[in-house]
Amino acid sequence: MRVTTEAAKRRIIITSGPTREYFDPIRFLSNPSTGRMGHAIASAAVAHGGFEVIYVAGPVSAEFATVSGATNRQVISTEDMLREVEANLNAGGILVMAAAPADYRPAVRSPIKIKKTENPQINLVPNPDILKEMAAKNRQLQPRALLIGFAAETHETEKYALGKLRDKELDMIFLNDVSRKGAGFASTTNEFTVFYRDGRRVEFANEAKEALGKKIIDCIIAYASA
Ligand code: CTP
Repeated sequence: MRVTTEAAKRRIIITSGPTREYFDPIRFLSNPSTGRMGHAIASAAVAHGGFEVIYVAGPVSAEFATVSGATNRQVISTEDMLREVEANLNAGGILVMAAAPADYRPAVRSPIKIKKTENPQINLVPNPDILKEMAAKNRQLQPRALLIGFAAETHETEKYALGKLRDKELDMIFLNDVSRKGAGFASTTNEFTVFYRDGRRVEFANEAKEALGKKIIDCIIAYASA
């Protein structure tokens, strides 16, 4: 009988949800990502049984904050998410960046509540790009990890997705056109075109994010074992 121990399983990190960038103790910049898609992918990875699953979630509702059977990590900001991903990315591992990390953060975070009479101006500074940072780390890993991204676009969708595939040195990118009904952030369904590093592309028809999670895992497994 062959027993697969946790240590022998391939590690897959799945990020999910938005991040928050606070400019005072009670206010932040963020976006409407719910974490539903990342949660569905992580649940499918656990159900598959062959992975050590690390689920890194930004601030999402309790329903999507943890995945039973995964190692769960909760983070607030993009820099927190980067630290958690970096600490866990290993040689031969897989990173699925389904999260929508904030690209900018306030240059200054006031330790006390800003009053409206202060007429505040919020200056922003860029956050690190987690995939780009991991692409740099990946150059040192042997065997290299698989890096998988998502692109939510409203226009010139294919051009931007292919640009991200190249610039972030990804193995594959799942593009969704968020201007279409039943796709994107706050929707319970989604549809994708996946573009591979080698130029192939595959369409995923619109369906519930839970069902798509399994298809995305199957797609990653097929790529990883090719
Ligand atoms: N991403 C990341 N780090 C960031 C922002 C995004 O790793 N700071 C990842 C996302 O998780 C996603 C991919 O990069 O897998 C594309 O994210 P997206 O928001 O579509 O693209 P950006 O690179 O942020 O570019 P833009 O906002 O200009 O479209």
